[in-house]
Amino acid sequence: MRFANFLLGAIAVLPTAVFGQLSGKVGPSTSVATKTAKKTCNVLNYGAKADKSTDLGPPLASAFAACKTGGTVVVPSGNYAMKTWVTFEGGKAWALQLDGVIYRTGTAGGNMLFIRNTNDFEMFSSNGKGAIQGNGYELHAQGSRSGARLLRVEKSQNFSVHDLILVDAPAFHLVFSTCTNGEAYNMAIRGGDWGGLDGVDIWGDNIWIHDIMVTNKDECVTVKSPSKNILIENIYCNWSGGCAMGSLGVDTAISKVHYKNIYTWKSNQMMMIKSNGGSGYVEDVTFENFIGHGNAYSLDIDQYWSSMSKLEGNGVQLSNMTFKNWKGGMANGAQRGPIKVACADSAPCTDIKITDLSMWTETGSKQIYSCRSGYGSGFCLKSGTGKSYAATTSTQTAAPTGHSAASMKDDLKTAFGTTVSIPIPTLPASYYPGVAPHSKIAGS
Ligand SMILES: *[C@@H]1O[C@H](CO)[C@@H](O)[C@H](O)[C@H]1NC(C)=O
Ligand SMILES: *[C@@H]1O[C@H](CO)[C@@H](O)[C@H](O)[C@H]1NC(C)=O
Ligand SMILES: *[C@@H]1O[C@H](CO)[C@@H](O)[C@H](O)[C@H]1NC(C)=O
Repeated sequence: MRFANFLLGAIAVLPTAVFGQLSGKVGPSTSVATKTAKKTCNVLNYGAKADKSTDLGPPLASAFAACKTGGTVVVPSGNYAMKTWVTFEGGKAWALQLDGVIYRTGTAGGNMLFIRNTNDFEMFSSNGKGAIQGNGYELHAQGSRSGARLLRVEKSQNFSVHDLILVDAPAFHLVFSTCTNGEAYNMAIRGGDWGGLDGVDIWGDNIWIHDIMVTNKDECVTVKSPSKNILIENIYCNWSGGCAMGSLGVDTAISKVHYKNIYTWKSNQMMMIKSNGGSGYVEDVTFENFIGHGNAYSLDIDQYWSSMSKLEGNGVQLSNMTFKNWKGGMANGAQRGPIKVACADSAPCTDIKITDLSMWTETGSKQIYSCRSGYGSGFCLKSGTGKSYAATTSTQTAAPTGHSAASMKDDLKTAFGTTVSIPIPTLPASYYPGVAPHSKIAGS
């Protein structure tokens, strides 16, 4: 119902600032109140016990079976153990209210909560305290990365996931795969300091991801192919891998993606577009209002990404990309400068626009800009269109004006590591300096 008020009024007054790249309404069609009034399925009436030892899996599956054609499944406040996973298949006009905390105790892979082929769905906590504690450190401490993902929504339409806390996934935290008209907001995601523990991965059509904090050492909020009409805003990568697109493969199809108000602290990058060979396209994308502090890379287009093996194809064609209003600094600008554009020689990038980017190194007194086979405007990009060219590097030895940018006062100072329990955080009040969340945080 996110845009119901606007849609009931004049379409002409849709605020473009909010609408961004979305193609229409996102979120559930029916309110939780209506669903709850129709039917409520409290897991405590289906055998669940808030004793942190009885398996929540079977009671949750039974509660869903009773409410899946219209109603609200409720997991009340309290601590629950989950030993077996649940696939919520084919629901319609239902909600999952998670006010308690679910602790993973089972060791299977797959997805702890897997919502599939659902329409008109909402998962949320009413108190802002609903959480899944994945206790991934128990597996990570033994070197294992093969455990469960916490929450996956697949092939679903008209839904939202909000006011939830996801902690220490054995593998990924939140995945939306092949979804339409979806929304995720007001979330804190906190994982181990390792690769492969992604925060938010999405692919689909007409998806709004906003007001989310991610702490981990891999994807913050990442768009994968195929995707179009995606708006990602007010994202706080509070010590993470950073946001990305990719990795992009064969027949990539990504268009109309807008990243806006992205604050990145102590991450691998502020934004990375990563591929190695492959084919297809990424076009009509905007990366606007980015603040970075203490990161390794900042703007990083890498079509020779060494962490993936080279795929068949001339390279994914990147075109019409705008980067504007980037501020702040980076860890070491002489080693890894604010701009690294490495486009595929056999598919040079076109129409890449970098404007109003003012960043300065946090150590030393120089920084580099590097471009290869990239066309467009700004910094080391060549104008017009043309053939491949070797990497050109320019060095800046004085701080540009206007590079300083606000910091979030609570930037994480020390990583959580991978061998000890990670505490469940509370939902932050803000996800980008000076910007209030679009919706009130539940319980605040
Ligand atoms: C999702 O909602 C839209 C209206 O916003 C509706 O047109 C569409 O049919 C819904 N999807 C499904 C699968 O019912
Ligand atoms: C480039 O992409 C922007 C959205 O980021 C879009 O508004 C614009 O129309 C596109 N330009 C062209 C020439 O397609
Ligand atoms: C950033 O993360 C750290 C650790 O989770 C937390 O203490 C801090 O409050 C977070 N910052 C904000 C603004 O929430």
